[in-house]
Amino acid sequence: MRTQVAIIGAGPAGMLLAHLLAAEGVESIVLEIRSQAYVAGRIRAGILEQSTVDLLRSAGLGERLDREAFEHRGIYLQWPDERHHLDFVELTGRSVFVYGQTQVQKDLVAAREAAGQEVHYEISDTVLHDLESDEPSVTFTDSSGVAQRVTASVVVGCDGSFGPSRAALPDGVRRSWEKTYPHSWLGILADVAPSTDELIYAWHPDGFALHSMRSSTVSRLYLQVPNGTDAQTWSDDRIWESLATRLGHGEGGWKLTPGPITEKSVLPMRSFVQTPMRHGRLFLAGDSAHIVPPTGAKGLNLAVADVGLLAPALAALLLGGDSRLADAYSETALRRVWRCTHFSWWMTTMLHATGDPFDEQLQLSQLRWVTSSEAGATGLAENYAGLPIGF
Ligand code: FAD
Ligand code: DHB
Repeated sequence: MRTQVAIIGAGPAGMLLAHLLAAEGVESIVLEIRSQAYVAGRIRAGILEQSTVDLLRSAGLGERLDREAFEHRGIYLQWPDERHHLDFVELTGRSVFVYGQTQVQKDLVAAREAAGQEVHYEISDTVLHDLESDEPSVTFTDSSGVAQRVTASVVVGCDGSFGPSRAALPDGVRRSWEKTYPHSWLGILADVAPSTDELIYAWHPDGFALHSMRSSTVSRLYLQVPNGTDAQTWSDDRIWESLATRLGHGEGGWKLTPGPITEKSVLPMRSFVQTPMRHGRLFLAGDSAHIVPPTGAKGLNLAVADVGLLAPALAALLLGGDSRLADAYSETALRRVWRCTHFSWWMTTMLHATGDPFDEQLQLSQLRWVTSSEAGATGLAENYAGLPIGF
């Protein structure tokens, strides 16, 4: 097979890149190790930044989003006996949107299917070749067991945190930074109306809790748990009791309404950045180059920002022979990546219990500052609601 851009991974980064490239007149083939149903069903991110929504709308992907997403003006930040609202619209002029990654993925798959996009699902043995030449290629075994090769002008690794692309950069070229955290999140989906109009991020001595949502009838909630926790050891009753305690059920008359839990899983947390995001004819986008802990809701938004930069850069390179944007891609993308890496680390550090009484006092001091000082609140709001793509 031959194409202009071989894209490895059909998650949000890979499918959105294929979509944006097609709009520029650039052909691509997408290769995915999992089935279409598996990729579509993964419960992951839930919050879209204003710039992500703007990009999806301008790419013709905003129709269902505009009908179904909830636009939120801000978030609540709280600790025992205190709850404060940060109004991002007042502070920065930008809002955020509740629209699950599963919905974004569904819209992308529908749009690419309608356009006849070539996507090979359930492949195996993905190997990248000749990345420093003008004819790089990817070999794989297709879903019927036949060996295949896609030869392209460019290969883009959108293969997430476990894919082979990031390791395809030579040892002497790649550099990485990593931090693992001593806690994980236990996440649930529940068939119950959210008990809040906007997200609640709660500091509590027992551990962090977050009340998010997916729709007017489905709630998404998270609890800080120790690493290595088995989700099945947390009964539904224990989960709702811990959420009620940490989210402040009964404080100021607020109530958390429990409901049937339909999904339960544990997510480990880590920060990871690999540079450069381009080597020869290989480009990296999304989780293949960087992972953030989920506290700042940045993972999906960063993946979208990467491909928002990469698509016009590849179009200029492949259609006009102009390499300036492609040459600047890694440096430009990494400015935002490091900003979001810092913000996600900072939110995580401010909100998760460590068991250290000194940390606890610093966290509470920081929370009081960001909820009472306009300067503190604006810093959080600007980062959470998101910087413009290309920042
Ligand atoms: P992915 O969505 O991981 O897509 C990569 C694709 O590449 C996958 O479909 C994978 O199957 C495929 N692939 C891998 N190896 C190969 C191969 N060898 N050959 C071909 N294809 C391959 N972010 C938030 O902002 N908020 C959250 O609440 C949140 N929750 C998360 C929960 C979980 C369990 C995980 C794992 C992530 C979560 N994230 C969250 C992060 C967010 O989902 C990711 O940042 C986002 O999915 C990145 O998109 P991506 O396309 O770069 O990578
Ligand atoms: C969700 C996940 C997050 O990591 C976050 O910070 C906010 C919301 C969610 O899944 O809804």
